[in-house]
Amino acid sequence: MKILVTGGAGFIGSNFIHFILGTYPKDEVINLDLLTYASNLENLAVWKDDPRYRFVKGSITDAALVEPLVAECDAIVHFAAESHVDRSILDPSAFIETNVRGTYVLLEAAKKHGKRFHHVSTDEVFGSLGLDDAPFNERTPYDPRSPYSASKASSDHLVRAYFHTYNLPVTISNCSNNYGPYACPEKFIPLIITNLFEGKKVPVYGDGMQVRDWLYVSDHCRAIDLVLRQGKIGETYCVGGNGERPNIWIVKQLLSALGKDESSIEYVKDRAGHDRRYAIDFSKIERELGWRPSVTLEEGLKNTVAWFKENEVWWKNMKSGEYEKYYEKQYQKR
Ligand code: NAD
Ligand code: DAU
Repeated sequence: MKILVTGGAGFIGSNFIHFILGTYPKDEVINLDLLTYASNLENLAVWKDDPRYRFVKGSITDAALVEPLVAECDAIVHFAAESHVDRSILDPSAFIETNVRGTYVLLEAAKKHGKRFHHVSTDEVFGSLGLDDAPFNERTPYDPRSPYSASKASSDHLVRAYFHTYNLPVTISNCSNNYGPYACPEKFIPLIITNLFEGKKVPVYGDGMQVRDWLYVSDHCRAIDLVLRQGKIGETYCVGGNGERPNIWIVKQLLSALGKDESSIEYVKDRAGHDRRYAIDFSKIERELGWRPSVTLEEGLKNTVAWFKENEVWWKNMKSGEYEKYYEKQYQKR
């Protein structure tokens, strides 16, 4: 299979490309990526001279660039997005442009050439749960609450509309919070790890009792691949990590792994509109495709700490330049 991967130089996309090229010797990948602050081509350096891999720099909003790439592939796996909630609160414009219009441009090209389309989405489209509520599943009504999740919800609706209206062969996966190698250090777990390596404090929003369901990125990549090859056309699959924990639990676990104490915690002003809890019921993908997460949270955190320890140059590079400017703005706002 020849796959057009959008956003393949980002966190999950680059893990997915490693998974595909490492698992299927006959598969080929074209990676279309704009190379925003969240990307790093170093993630894929091992494939750069492999004839099965090609990188194209550009935006998914550029129809003239996108169309011939879609034409030459069998399937599109769409990761490209602005993905950070805090940035969407500071300025939603790029989120609308890439996540909504970019998805529309890709869908038009897929429609023109009748190509298989898998859309990578998020559990945030379902809104926020109370502590006693049942986890999200494929029938949970949409209730996005941040500009990021609203833009992802819009793109999900567009993907479904292209299935119903034009019979485009689509699938969607909505997953919980990913963590692991290549995660951009603006996100919670890599931010904690790298701040602690740098001897800095760890910013905990509000009371730290918000709950996320942590999914190790390789488990997520395996789920996407299964849905791509064996998922039922037109269907949605919820993917969770069996790793529900309050944020403060994650912080304390990492403090102890890195030999630090609670004086490294800094409680800061809460995120605007902060969703209290996400949780995923992944029984559909388990029942229909035989998938379940294989990495426990304890194991995954250990691997992630080890990866960041071994890749100091990588994360220091990610934390320089544009990242520093973003943090200045973020803290002026608080
Ligand atoms: P990321 O921010 O690490 O990477 C996004 C990639 O998309 C970057 O390489 C960036 O350069 C690229 N990109 C951005 N705008 C582009 C454009 N206009 N054209 C082409 N490329 C562009 O994101 P991620 O964490 O790897 O997330 C990947 C996808 O998975 C996103 O769609 C996100 O909504 C979804 N998702 C992420 C998580 C998570 O926990 N990280 C969870 C659920 C769903
Ligand atoms: O649930 C899936 C989503 O998970 C994805 O769709 C998003 O792309 C991804 O960014 C992630 O969104 P979150 O907002 O849940 O992730 P983030 O890492 O930003 O924050 C995780 C939790 O930690 C959240 O409750 C906010 C909190 N937090 C985050 C940061 C960056 C802090 O307390 N302090 C921080 O400095």
